[in-house]
Amino acid sequence: MANETELSRTEAFQRSDDVPSNPTSNPTIGDVLAARFGRRDLLKGLLGTTVVAGLATSLPPLAGALVSPASAATTAVPDYDFTEIAHGVDETHHVAPGHQAEILIRWGDPVLADAPAFDPQAQTAESQKRQFGYNNDFIGFQPLPADGSDPDRGLLFVNHEYTIPELMFPGMVRDKDNPFAGMTKEKAEVEMAAHGASIIEIRRGPDGRWAVVPDSRYNRRITTLDTAMDLTGPCAGADAMKTSADPTGTRVTGMVNNCAGGTTPWGTFLTAEENFHGYFMGEPAAGADAASLKRYGLPGGWYNWGQYDTRFDIGREPNEANRFGWLVEVDPYDPQSVPKKRTALGRFKHEGANVIVNGDGRVVGLSGDDERFDYVYRFVTDGRYDPADRAANMDLLDAGTLSVARFDPDGRIAWLPLVHGQGPLTAANGFADQADVLIRARLAADALGATKMDRPEDVEINPVTKKAYVALTNNSKRTETDPANPRAKNIWGQILEMIPAAGDFAGDDWRWEMLVLAGNPKDPATGAQYHPATSENGWFACPDNLAVDPKGRLWVSTDQGGGWAKASGTADGVWALQTEGPERGKGKMFFRVPVGAEMCGPWFSTDGGTLFVAVQHPAADGAKEYAPFGRDSTFEDPATRWPDFAEGMPPRPSVVMIRRDDGKPIGG
Ligand code: FEO
Ligand code: CA
Ligand code: CA
Ligand code: CA
Repeated sequence: MANETELSRTEAFQRSDDVPSNPTSNPTIGDVLAARFGRRDLLKGLLGTTVVAGLATSLPPLAGALVSPASAATTAVPDYDFTEIAHGVDETHHVAPGHQAEILIRWGDPVLADAPAFDPQAQTAESQKRQFGYNNDFIGFQPLPADGSDPDRGLLFVNHEYTIPELMFPGMVRDKDNPFAGMTKEKAEVEMAAHGASIIEIRRGPDGRWAVVPDSRYNRRITTLDTAMDLTGPCAGADAMKTSADPTGTRVTGMVNNCAGGTTPWGTFLTAEENFHGYFMGEPAAGADAASLKRYGLPGGWYNWGQYDTRFDIGREPNEANRFGWLVEVDPYDPQSVPKKRTALGRFKHEGANVIVNGDGRVVGLSGDDERFDYVYRFVTDGRYDPADRAANMDLLDAGTLSVARFDPDGRIAWLPLVHGQGPLTAANGFADQADVLIRARLAADALGATKMDRPEDVEINPVTKKAYVALTNNSKRTETDPANPRAKNIWGQILEMIPAAGDFAGDDWRWEMLVLAGNPKDPATGAQYHPATSENGWFACPDNLAVDPKGRLWVSTDQGGGWAKASGTADGVWALQTEGPERGKGKMFFRVPVGAEMCGPWFSTDGGTLFVAVQHPAADGAKEYAPFGRDSTFEDPATRWPDFAEGMPPRPSVVMIRRDDGKPIGG
């Protein structure tokens, strides 16, 4: 999801990001850092890196305050072998020398064998249901066959997060007083069909290039329009999940705003519903839970689908919004499988989800709630993973304990369980039962005193080093002076490292450290902190999606939205970021997107030979700030026509595959 896009149709998205809904006085991460190191020291620290460095090294082993020069526990991982590219912005993409970056699939390309050719002038929902959707975000890969015996075959799962009518449809006008000018039922249904996900079989040829298998039985479109899904876990069948179309509260059509996601060891994908509130409109019904609606930003009114489908009008179907905001699990090996919304993992604006099998066999998932001042969550299954029995693993995510993080001043993380009957989560405090706690997870987490964060995006688990990373993308609305993080208006973001003691992700003994404070480290006004060997191109702003390669190295993609010119002046992209050893905190720029795009979905093939990236909304964000263009993009007049550069063809969100000329793994 874009930050602060300049497009009028998506201004609502930006406002949503800008207006935090967390009313609590829970400590912010700034308070925590201040308490940990003392406001005076931190204020002094802001005045010069010497003091900051001294501070960091004087407090081992929990010296993570600003950037910690070396983590308490370092695992040897190889350095990144590539020559970095330069910051910049133009109409196309750029990759490090010695690499090929090629289009795998674009918006409108066939997914199903009977898909018609893409005709942007004559789009229909029936066509779009068979074609690759809009705004690709998460990319995940599972081997085919599932035992991984063929390194050159796989199933790619790609999210289609949201739609931008001004760039998708011809003839749309910008009218601030009528944001839905030009919309019709037909266009709304194309939008619903362009949301969701695609599953495609891909094969790698002898030349190293992957290609979509056009007639694969695995190819599948999942849409908001007509894909039936099950609601499973503790909230299934709850009264708050029942609607006139589904009196059982167990079946819902579609998913929305699927941002990032992850894979499971039993061969499924997890896809995260993020800004679901934006899809609902209308006036709340009498007696509606005003506190919950407010906390989730409902109704967001970004789309007018409720004019054509009453379930998106909260006045007419008050419970429908409770059926969105979940993690959805999809089995790609059975094209007829029914996706499952796993309610045990809580309802919030899930950026993504990554899981790991803990040493004791329980499965642990981490997920961020991407809004200013919202939280980081953990889920631990009750059951244990059985590598010999796939069927027994398929519903593991229906039972377990959801917790929310409090980042303590002493460098520890406390995981606070969202369990009905424990602490403040009682009927006396308005939580009727466990389903209620999960449906209103944000309110439950507020009551528990979780730490208010600077917009948690991807939370990535590194299975090699047994650490996890949270991309905190930015928080321009923080108003209090924050001595630890000297950016009351933090437009650059930071990356936190989370370390479970002895690699026990299900345990209670966790610490946190700061990996980098993003922004330009050469500009003291930003307060940015990287390893000093970072070049003028090696720093970034607004970390969003993260990926770990097979050798345990971290890769960061960015989303500065319409604020790119102010945050960094470069287009978004992918950076390598060292987490271990003496160069911890050193960044290197690897890939850059065309103007107006955001960088999503970095994902490595199992052998590390290919990096798949998702170029989302080319031409959209901050086109006005791009001097050679200097105005908002439209379908007819976009800032770039990437990747086709053909007259009449609009810019197309696309998955790009990157590999090295010498055939070695990405990063060497
Ligand atoms: Fe869809 Fe938080 O980015
Ligand atoms: Ca994102
Ligand atoms: Ca990721
Ligand atoms: Ca983002």
